[in-house]
Amino acid sequence: MENVSPVRIDMTGTDVHGEGEAIRAHGPVAQVELPMGVRAWSITGYREGRQGLGDQRFSKDARQHWTAFKNGEIDPTFPLIVWARMEAMNTAYGEAHDRLRRLVGKAFTPRRVEALRPQIEKTVTGILDGLAQAAPGDVVDLKAKYSYPMVNEVMCDLIGVPAQARGTILRGGMAQVDSSLSEEEIGAAVGAVFGEMAGLVQAKRQEPGDDMASGLLAAQEDDGSGLTEQEVVGMLLLLLGTGTETVVNLVTNAAFALLTLPDQYELVKTGRVSWRDVIEETLRAEAPVVQMPFRFGIEDIEINGVTIPAGEPVLMNFGAMGRDPAIHGATADRFDAARANKDHLAFGYGMYHCIGTALALLEAEVALPALFARFPDMTLAVPAAQVGPQHTLIMNGRSELPVHLHGAR
Ligand code: HEM
Repeated sequence: MENVSPVRIDMTGTDVHGEGEAIRAHGPVAQVELPMGVRAWSITGYREGRQGLGDQRFSKDARQHWTAFKNGEIDPTFPLIVWARMEAMNTAYGEAHDRLRRLVGKAFTPRRVEALRPQIEKTVTGILDGLAQAAPGDVVDLKAKYSYPMVNEVMCDLIGVPAQARGTILRGGMAQVDSSLSEEEIGAAVGAVFGEMAGLVQAKRQEPGDDMASGLLAAQEDDGSGLTEQEVVGMLLLLLGTGTETVVNLVTNAAFALLTLPDQYELVKTGRVSWRDVIEETLRAEAPVVQMPFRFGIEDIEINGVTIPAGEPVLMNFGAMGRDPAIHGATADRFDAARANKDHLAFGYGMYHCIGTALALLEAEVALPALFARFPDMTLAVPAAQVGPQHTLIMNGRSELPVHLHGAR
């Protein structure tokens, strides 16, 4: 199978779906080129992705398993080097990863997620009340004025962040997934929140609450060991970094789809599809995380006849996997909440699968119906083609979502 692809990964994410298609043209497992001539692999096939994601021989720990990085062959100015240097659960491998995952699982329970529901409803209602004050004809950016404030509040409620620290901490969380920032900028944003987080953890040690920070401090293995304070701080930063922009994109992408596809809005308005159908179709066709750096085989790994050599970087293209014609046929690219099969891998699969899935779905299931119930006649304020992409290679989102809230009640 032809797997040598000339596709250069666009760091500015101008057309993530077009790029996924271009890679797929070279097979579901193909080579790609990263900036500064760094060679990598990209998996765009759904079946191949599932196989790779479920294969325990793929590590996300560059420090142990990326051969060129270990050999000092990756230039320090390589724009994705932060992903190689990152030390967190999502870049740990084997027992080191399993341990962190077990401990965070003790604090991030289904009960804790479900307990957030009334708070999410209250937050959503409060933001919608504020939006309803907009004068007729005003242009409101739903991403900045609805999705972001909603998700920010939910994450801070989850973690137990006091009001005065919320701005700083959230900026740091967002910076971690913004690949348009330089390593220095990301470092500065993360550094600024570190003090806040360390202070928060100290405060929760003294006075625990019913929140994630306190839950992580209390989480213990069977032998009584737990997370160090440094690990708790790291975990909270990881949750902010992974749980904010992703849900913002899910809510914003779903709203954009309904605003631009009147037949789809009609389907949900008339109850022929559910909000959950809309959310699942958004995850399939507009995966909020388009691709995530990096994985490395700890040995040569064969997928669908292609051998990925040990130690080479692999990108999982979640966006393309959801649009795989081998699974979804000729209409794979079309957003259709009524389609029977909405299989996707937008939350990953296997040992690194998303720990925040239930929370993300809960937020979207509260935020979307409430938004469209309050402003049922809402329209885009600019032509759809003018709503630009987010300009990152990792996330699939809109830069903004300007609307007229006509018909606000
Ligand atoms: C629509 C929203 C979300 C999407 C699309 C999403 C997507 C993903 C994906 C694709 C992965 C796997 C990455 C890989 O295998 O390389 C992942 C992992 C992860 N997600 Fe999410 N996520 C979402 C929301 C959240 C939320 C709300 C949280 C936390 C509050 C969260 C926390 C995490 C963490 C900590 C990991 C790493 C898991 C590990 O390393 O074991 N995510 N997410």
